[in-house]
Amino acid sequence: MGDAGVRTGTAIAIEGERIAAVGSQADLEREFPDATRIDCANTVITPGLVDSHTHALFGRARYEEHEQRAAGADYMAIARRGGGIHSSVADLRARSEDDLYALALPRLRRLASYGSTTIEVKSGYGLSVDDELKSLRVVRRLGEALPMRLIPTWLGAHEIPLDHRGTDRSRSDYVALLLDELLPVVARENLARFADVFCEPGVFTIAETRSILTASRSAGLGLKLHADELEPHGGAELAAELGAISADHLASISAAGIEAIATSGTVATLLPGTMLFLGKHRQAPARRLIDAGAAVALATDFNPGTSPTFNFPLILTLGVSQLGMSAAEVLIAATVNGAAALGLAAETGQIATGFSADLAIFHADDVREIPYWYGDRRCRSTWARGKPCHAYGAADNLSA
Ligand code: NIG
Ligand code: FE
Repeated sequence: MGDAGVRTGTAIAIEGERIAAVGSQADLEREFPDATRIDCANTVITPGLVDSHTHALFGRARYEEHEQRAAGADYMAIARRGGGIHSSVADLRARSEDDLYALALPRLRRLASYGSTTIEVKSGYGLSVDDELKSLRVVRRLGEALPMRLIPTWLGAHEIPLDHRGTDRSRSDYVALLLDELLPVVARENLARFADVFCEPGVFTIAETRSILTASRSAGLGLKLHADELEPHGGAELAAELGAISADHLASISAAGIEAIATSGTVATLLPGTMLFLGKHRQAPARRLIDAGAAVALATDFNPGTSPTFNFPLILTLGVSQLGMSAAEVLIAATVNGAAALGLAAETGQIATGFSADLAIFHADDVREIPYWYGDRRCRSTWARGKPCHAYGAADNLSA
């Protein structure tokens, strides 16, 4: 992860959706004399950033909880009172597909305006058969309309919904609903590439997580896991054991969990913006994970509760300043390793011949400026599959 392969004075040729060649400008002009030229002088071009963990499909913002936490309320305590994820669930259930589509579209464009060209989007604010399917169908429509590559993940196990926390219907009924009623439709209609579970004390237990993920794997889905976010819970070990493509959060991962991830093929996806926004004074042990041999990815965790940011480069800043990573490591974490966390390592995340023409162009002279100018938006434009997603300025007017 320490070598980002930076090259200077290089030109990139794009043909259709693919990178056709990378080389000197003179060579490429000879080889592609009729090509349209885009002047990228005084910029740094990176692979389009791969945001491998978002909850970008939601309704209203939850700014009231931000203040409640500042006044001492705990994230989990807010959820136990019916706020948190539950409040996003009540909101999403009341909205139509068209309404959700109209809310998500400018938010996804806004993510692209900071450099992201591949964006994973989870369901998980529906928590009923109809509302989870509604969410995933909206993600599919968004993916058809936008140039960015959207990767849908089914997170029906984001919470035990309030209507299964009372006496009438139990949490085991909810797990049964996920497995017997929802998973078969998600798989049959090919609505998600991955299944994910929020495995955390107070949410899903290790045993419940194991049964949901095992069934999801049998149904043909890849596996992801919200693991060891707030308390050590054995989630990282479970992710490694089940061969999950990624274990995400990991701010409370144990020594055994680090060992399990480092000796597995599971990517450790770290989300430092979440800990920052929750006001926690702890971050995932990125250095220990990298030094143990784990592949670390970074992502925004864009969601209305714990990480309402569009700014992936800001997450890279946190990677350097809070997690002790180098500029090369945070770039690899946001490109090559993000792609690996989505099973796309042979498709995107690198500027190399044959890869998808996914690029982000930044106003900078040195790649280290991307995490350095923190909070700034230096991305000039993004290209996904050879098509422009966003030119700087176009996403300035956001009514979200
Ligand atoms: O990744 N940890 C669980 N899920 C989200 C938060 C969801 C919410 O609060 O709305 C996360 O932090
Ligand atoms: Fe998350």
